[in-house]
Order: sequence, then C-alpha cells, then structure tokens
Amino acid sequence: MDPRLDIIFARRSIRAYSTEPVSEDDIQSLLQAGMAAPSASNRQPWHFVVITDRQQLRALADVHPYGKMIADAGLGIAVCGDPQASDMWVQDCSAATENILIAVAGLGLGGVWLGCHGRPERERAVRQVLGIPERFGVLSLLSIGHPGEEKPPRTQYDPSRVHRQAW
Ligand SMILES: Cc1cc2nc3c(=O)[nH]c(=O)nc-3n(C[C@H](O)[C@H](O)[C@H](O)COP(=O)(O)O)c2cc1C
Repeated sequence: MDPRLDIIFARRSIRAYSTEPVSEDDIQSLLQAGMAAPSASNRQPWHFVVITDRQQLRALADVHPYGKMIADAGLGIAVCGDPQASDMWVQDCSAATENILIAVAGLGLGGVWLGCHGRPERERAVRQVLGIPERFGVLSLLSIGHPGEEKPPRTQYDPSRVHRQAW
C-alpha cells in the first residue's frame, strides 16, 4: 500500500462509538469535504441534513434495517440530492458521501455509509423522519462518531479485476 494514500486505506466502516460528541469544528470540516467532491458540470446538486439530536438519531435507527448503530452515533449526516438540478445526482452525491467518509478517517473519527437510494422504502422512511421534501432523493445516511472499535487499514486489490488496453 502506497503510504501517500494512507487515508484512503484507513477508511473502514466503523459501527461502534464512544459517547464523546463530534465537535462543531469537525462537523464543519466534514461538510467542507463533502462539498469539495466532483460533480457533473459542477452542478453540486447536494443537500446535507446534519443530525446530532439523540431522539432523531434513534428515530433513524428505528427505520433503517441495517442502521441500528446510528442510535449511538454522535452525528448523522443524510446526503440528499436534487434530481431537478442534475440527472447525475446519484453519482455526485456518492462522490460527496465518500469524501465525507475519508474526511471522517482523517479527523480520527469513525463512520459508516448506510445505503438509502435504491431501496425506496428506506428512502421514504428517512425522508419522513427528517422532513426532507418529496422531490429530493436520499442517497445515503452516514453514521459518525468517535470510534469505539478499531479496524486495520487495507486495500482489497484484486488483479483479476484489472484489464489493460482492452477487456
Ligand atoms: C451503497 C452502500 C450501502 C451500504 N449500506 C450499509 C448499511 O446499510 N449498513 C451497514 O452497516 N453498512 C453499509 N455499508 C458499508 C459496507 O458494508 C462496507 O463498506 C463494506 O462491508 C466494506 O467494508 P469497509 O467499509 O470497512 O471497507 C454500505 C456501503 C455502501 C457503499
């Protein structure tokens, strides 16, 4: 693993957290990282719902079938997209989501991507809890906090997936 890319390999899905809150400075840095993502024609079709209220975090855990850990997270971020702003909102919001997760690792926090878009019932439920207007898509929900578990950095490099010059 190239040490110049350490932060990429250090990003792992962290699903357990301590009770320490995520600072407002860190929240701001994560949002800046999200909005630094590339987007088609630089349309930046994203919106971010920041959740630190425990009751809201618990309500999200209740409606996401694989998101129970967000009940104990210091921070939730719902990455939403405006399909009227870009027909590539899914890719753009995915780029923003990954940027935030890499920034999470860079700040010494831990987090995990909870999939929403592509599962209409999850998207609907999260939209309802957070009061997101109907016309916006919910790409992902991020569960973030001070890590309560450790995972080693790794690449999953697999040469069989690489095709040179042509498939
Ligand atoms: C689109 C997408 C949806 C995911 N949804 C969930 C989820 O609902 N719950 C969860 O615990 N992890 C979820 N994950 C995290 C994956 O399980 C995780 O990235 C994968 O197992 C690889 O582990 P790593 O992130 O530590 O490299 C999701 C990841 C992606 C990219």
